Amino acid sequence: MAPDRATHYPVNMSELRLEELSATTIVAANTLTLKPGQEQFVAPVSHSIAEAYVNPATAWPRVVLDGDDVVGFIMGNFDPDSPHDEFRGCIWRMNVAAESQGRGVGRFAVTALAEEARSRGFDQLTVMFEPGELGPEAFFTAVGFTPIGETQYGETIAALKL
Ligand SMILES: CC(C)(COP(=O)(O)OP(=O)(O)OC[C@H]1O[C@@H](n2cnc3c(N)ncnc32)[C@H](O)[C@@H]1OP(=O)(O)O)[C@@H](O)C(=O)NCCC(=O)NCCS
Repeated sequence: MAPDRATHYPVNMSELRLEELSATTIVAANTLTLKPGQEQFVAPVSHSIAEAYVNPATAWPRVVLDGDDVVGFIMGNFDPDSPHDEFRGCIWRMNVAAESQGRGVGRFAVTALAEEARSRGFDQLTVMFEPGELGPEAFFTAVGFTPIGETQYGETIAALKL
């Protein structure tokens, strides 16, 4: 039987919020666990944090909090001067804790990042991901992305019009 949306989704979506990484949330962000098989589709959060540290002008790393719990991580990259369209406003990486997947946390994080991109004047948000059954393609399609190309390494490039 399909889960009842009203109870399956967070009872109150307004409980979810994005916050900048802080001394309190960084450890929880680094220890978010994924479902078996998903690790191959996303680099560890610690890599993103290191990238954000060396790209402070363009990286936008945020944790997703449900009350006091860190339930996800998302990092955007906003680089209007990039020579590559697909790197100007993009989701660099995101992951939702295994036990919190399927409750709308990922959709909330993408919507918040899309709002940030829109407020910075971007007209599209892009994402790159590995195709594959356990990968995030169905999620990105569900939240409105459509494929626009492929990288030289065979990753799908998808875009969301803002
Ligand atoms: C991809 C990921 C971020 C999705 O997060 P989530 O919180 O589980 O997604 P949501 O609950 O917000 O789902 C939003 C929509 O996507 C759909 N969806 C999510 N995962 C899906 C899947 N594997 N297959 C089909 N649909 C899926 C949901 O059904 C939902 O649709 P609806 O709103 O129309 O009912 C999460 O599964 C994850 O962390 N995966 C591992 C890391 C990864 O692949 N990251 C992306 C690399 S850039």
